[in-house]
Amino acid sequence: MKIYCKDTVSTGMHIDLGRVAHTVTKALDYVGIDDQSHGRRVGLMTHRVAHELGWDRETRHFSLIAGMIHDCGVSSTAAHQKLVDEIEWKGAGEHCLRGGDFLEGFPPFAQYAGAVRFHHTRWNELPDWLDDGTRRVANLIFLTDRLDVVRSAYLSTHHPYEVLRHRDQIVAKLAPLSGTLFAPELFEALNQAILRDSFWLETEDEFLDAAIFETLSFWDHSMTLGFDDLLALGEMISQIVDAKSPFTHDHSLRVADLTYAVTNMLGFTPQRRQMLRLAALLHDIGKLRTPDEILEKPGALTETERDIMLRHPMDSKMVLSALFPGTPIDRWASNHHEKLNGTGYPFGWSGDQIDEETRVLTICDIFQALCQKRPYRGRLRADEVVAIMRNMVEAGEIDPTIFRIVAANQDELYKTATREGR
Ligand SMILES: [Fe+2]
Ligand SMILES: [Fe+2]
Ligand SMILES: [Fe+2]
Repeated sequence: MKIYCKDTVSTGMHIDLGRVAHTVTKALDYVGIDDQSHGRRVGLMTHRVAHELGWDRETRHFSLIAGMIHDCGVSSTAAHQKLVDEIEWKGAGEHCLRGGDFLEGFPPFAQYAGAVRFHHTRWNELPDWLDDGTRRVANLIFLTDRLDVVRSAYLSTHHPYEVLRHRDQIVAKLAPLSGTLFAPELFEALNQAILRDSFWLETEDEFLDAAIFETLSFWDHSMTLGFDDLLALGEMISQIVDAKSPFTHDHSLRVADLTYAVTNMLGFTPQRRQMLRLAALLHDIGKLRTPDEILEKPGALTETERDIMLRHPMDSKMVLSALFPGTPIDRWASNHHEKLNGTGYPFGWSGDQIDEETRVLTICDIFQALCQKRPYRGRLRADEVVAIMRNMVEAGEIDPTIFRIVAANQDELYKTATREGR
């Protein structure tokens, strides 16, 4: 079976910004351990309180999206844990600034950068120069974000059905902070919003996505992304991965450079090269879900740790198919551990089921991994790398033609693979 790729991107890609925000926040969920769906709950609650405030539909939808992606600057599991344990935390500003910078890199999301930058700033400490709209959305996200923390703490010792009975007690924990951390006007609106049972019920995991998608359907979030915007979206996501694991990110950047160089040698068109570069940049995004201790472990992995590690291509596929629907990016990226003789994972594809782009990405992934200094071994020389890969060709695992090109250019590619910095 031959799999053909559609070249949808040359004419621009239709995306739904609401869906993209939803996927970004789901990808961030992978970082959380105890606190799944935080971004989605905050987004929805922000929208509901905005409704009580009488904000117009456009502003409500702005609040929903900004709320969903508010924590895009958090990536390390340790930093995340602090955010869900404490109401105020000294280091919190860091992920706000980083998140704002990430969003500015992707033009359609740049409008949310201001609200994200100030979502842990006290109301009475917001800078004077900040416009009124941004300060209110930022502070509302701060409020619903902290409500979510209080709610999670409550649920750690109570059944979910008790929430309705105890809603006043939950919100009362934040009452002393109205006027300092939170604008009194926003806190009052929150007190109105919580009177509706639906406010609490629809944030339960069972109903959450349906509530978000229904809400999103009331506004047109669709747009056409040109090729540059598509690359910018990829870069933004790759920066999120970088904050979680610089080690993985460094690997991904170099694999992206390698695929770009090898596809030039193979005579791919510029656009096909760029698309594959993007897939290479994000091929390990599923590792967001792999705990830091496993990614950075200096010794060999235990069986359980290996089982956890083996999941990442499937997680990559889920994230990338939602972010770049109708493109081959998710397929190229998630097939990077497949082998031509069918011994790879997660699908066990073989022969023609693995297309040329994937074969290039796989070879570049292996080449870079062998060149990279790992916590458990030093860096191999170019001739050692090529010798190992030749054995893989002989075992029928990787493409012989692409391998020959890599072997013939091993010194140049070795430099590309081991370069430091972005
Ligand atoms: Fe935050
Ligand atoms: Fe948060
Ligand atoms: Fe991988």
